[in-house]
Amino acid sequence: MTRFPVLVSRRLPAVAMDKLAQACDLETWAEPTAMPRDALLRAARAKHGLVTLLTERVDDELLDAAGDQLIIVANYAVGFDNIDVAACTRRGIMVSNTPDVLTEATADMTWALLLAAARRVAEGDRFLRTGQPWIWGPEMLLGQDVYAKTLGIIGFGRIGRAVARRASGFGMQILYHDPWLSPDEPAGPATPVGLDDLLARSDFVSVHASLTPETRHLIDAARLGQMKPTAVLVNASRGPVVDEHALAVALDGGVIFAAGLDVFEREPEVDAQLLANPRVVLAPHLGSATVDTRAAMGLLAADNVLAALGGERPPTLVNPQVWETRRGAIGG
Ligand code: DGY
Repeated sequence: MTRFPVLVSRRLPAVAMDKLAQACDLETWAEPTAMPRDALLRAARAKHGLVTLLTERVDDELLDAAGDQLIIVANYAVGFDNIDVAACTRRGIMVSNTPDVLTEATADMTWALLLAAARRVAEGDRFLRTGQPWIWGPEMLLGQDVYAKTLGIIGFGRIGRAVARRASGFGMQILYHDPWLSPDEPAGPATPVGLDDLLARSDFVSVHASLTPETRHLIDAARLGQMKPTAVLVNASRGPVVDEHALAVALDGGVIFAAGLDVFEREPEVDAQLLANPRVVLAPHLGSATVDTRAAMGLLAADNVLAALGGERPPTLVNPQVWETRRGAIGG
């Protein structure tokens, strides 16, 4: 069987590397840092498959560097805003992502941030570590109740729905806003509302929107101003959906109570004003970071590559029209 050359832009969990290595000649970047751009451009040359991370920009420059033999770009992430999908489609290159396998882990992380921000867990942890003397006090580090409050979910796709499922256990009223979803779509106990309504009524606002030109800075200073002063904002989707500096200013000004962030506008950078604010709980993009989930993402990325190189339809294609065209061309 032909062994195809494939670039994996950062080492994936061993199960995925092993699966790919059984059928492909792999080149990878062994460092824990992102591959420098010039090294990426060089390494992509003559590859039939590229396994990329959200830290790699896949654009015309990279596709030119790879060459016409490139068949698939398999992103190791559900989000694919790092990829110019239109450019890949124009060139007949398949693009895949890793949906579903990370839904529950990301929803769990969203809840971890929500609870930690509402109940000031990270602040309490930091306080104890200072070693200051303390005694239980009626008004020490007071947070916000979660049980029976209102949760507003912006973006009601797979992860938004998984977050909503957990909210039922907290006796919450659930609102959602998703302009891409028909209001007739079954949504369980969640109620569709306009964005203004959601922001005004929710005690917790959780963002699960993909990053597109329309959603960039969807939550800006004006929208933060529509929220309750006791509200908590959580973002585990993509950083630029929230105007990070506007959020820092809003938190400092008491416009909202607290925030939990897993993602940032200019990762790995985090706004200095946010870093200085004790009311924001921060995590370095850990939504899918569990042993099982990262292995499952790797195996799915590998399945996509192996299918594409073997002339089969990759299971989670972002641009299925390319597969249809290819299948037509080979008479499948
Ligand atoms: C994704 O999959 O898009 C996450 O941001 C990384 O798991």
